[in-house]
This record gives sequence, structure tokens and C-alpha cells, in this order.
Amino acid sequence: MGRAGRIVGRILAAVQERIEPGVTTADLDRLAEKLCDEHRVEPAFKGYRGYPYALCCSVNEEVVHGFPGPRRLREGDILSMDFGVRHEGYFGDAAVTVGVGRVSAEAERLMRVTREALAAGIAACVEGGRLGDVSAAVQTHAERNGFSVVRQFVGHGIGRQLHEEPQVPNYVGGGRDLPLSRGLVLAIEPMVNAGGYEVKVKKDGWTAVTVDGSLSAHFEHTVAVTGDGPLILSLP
Ligand code: MF3
Ligand code: CO
Repeated sequence: MGRAGRIVGRILAAVQERIEPGVTTADLDRLAEKLCDEHRVEPAFKGYRGYPYALCCSVNEEVVHGFPGPRRLREGDILSMDFGVRHEGYFGDAAVTVGVGRVSAEAERLMRVTREALAAGIAACVEGGRLGDVSAAVQTHAERNGFSVVRQFVGHGIGRQLHEEPQVPNYVGGGRDLPLSRGLVLAIEPMVNAGGYEVKVKKDGWTAVTVDGSLSAHFEHTVAVTGDGPLILSLP
């Protein structure tokens, strides 16, 4: 899983480098596919429950699962990219939100707080802790900063399947409060909205957007519980 995760981190970092005003999200998806070929890995999302692309590209008020396409990124947009691979039978999964050129102070703060919320969730990913501690850490950080966490989508266990038990909600009371044991691997993925937490799925059947049109950010890592603290597998 370390090898799968590292390749996810590398490909996502390389695709991030390509982001600038004028680039289309389809360009980014094409690059992600090409890098999958070069690394001899399968894109995990393409074909998953009928999802048509390697990459998810969600712009501004889009929360997750946006389709890459002919849309050109503009200065001031924020782009959430979510990406996974399968390698030697194991999955890795990660996401980042990136500003296109200069973005508003509020967008910058939303991205920072969401990244910090993920870091807080990861820090709670310790043997002897509980899943509810991870959820609480994420939720507390986001809400203390005046933002809300999405309820309709959650993180997940990951391994030989992209989505395994347990569900990893970004809010308290959304799932089973399991003890965290050594060897458990979780995809922790806070989706944080600048406004309310409600989201809806567009007519394409995939693209989730905020109901109030507010900006949304998404960061994700694949993280293992070890005898020696949390181990982030999806770093480059
Ligand atoms: N990181 C997301 C998840 O784990 C990406 C899934 S996109 C899909 O749910 F296309 F595969 F559904
Ligand atoms: Co995921």
C-alpha cells in the first residue's frame, strides 16, 4: 500500500504543477492518465460505478466528483482534484485543493483550514484511539473557523478495495465509533464548505455542489495506523 500511495502522491503533485489560468480540466485528466501508464498503475476511479475519468476536478462551489472537461481554469478559481490508483492489488487515494493564480483571502483561508482539518484528523489516527476522535478532530477545526463539514460524503477504509469498511465521517455521530487498531488503513477526506454543509448532486449524476453556492475545499490522504503513530502513505 505504501507503493500505491506514493505513486498517487507523485502523480497528483505532477498534475498540480500543470495548473494555471487557461488550462482545461480535461488537460489535467489526460496528464493523470498518461502518468498512470508511465507508472504502470491503473486509475482507480475510471469505471468505478460508471465514473468516466481518471481524475475528479471540482471547481469553486463544486464539492467532489466533478467531471474533467473543456472548462478553462481562470485566475481566482479553486480546483479540487481527487485521484486514486490500483497497484499490485492495492489502492491509494488522495485529494488536494489548489488556487489558480491569485485567489481571494477567503478562498485561501478555506483551503488552509481544510488542509489543517485533515492534519488534525491524521494526528488522531493512533493505535488505541477511536474513529470518533478522527471525526471530532476534523469537525472541530473546521467549525471553530466558521466553516461547515459535508455530511453526505465520507472517508473510508481502503486496501484491496477502493472503498472498505469503516466509513470515516468528518463529523461526530455519523458512524460506528470503532477502536483504531494497528494495520487499519483509512482514506481521511474532509470536504469543507465556506457556507452551509448541504450539498446536492447535479443532473450528470456525479458532480456534487454546495446548495448555497459557497466555495468548497477537499483534502485527502491514505493513512495507516501503526505501532509508531500515523503513517501517511499518499505522499510523493
Ligand atoms: N476520493 C473519492 C472517494 O474515495 C473519489 C471517488 S471518485 C469515484 O470516494 F469516481 F471513484 F467514485
Ligand atoms: Co477517497
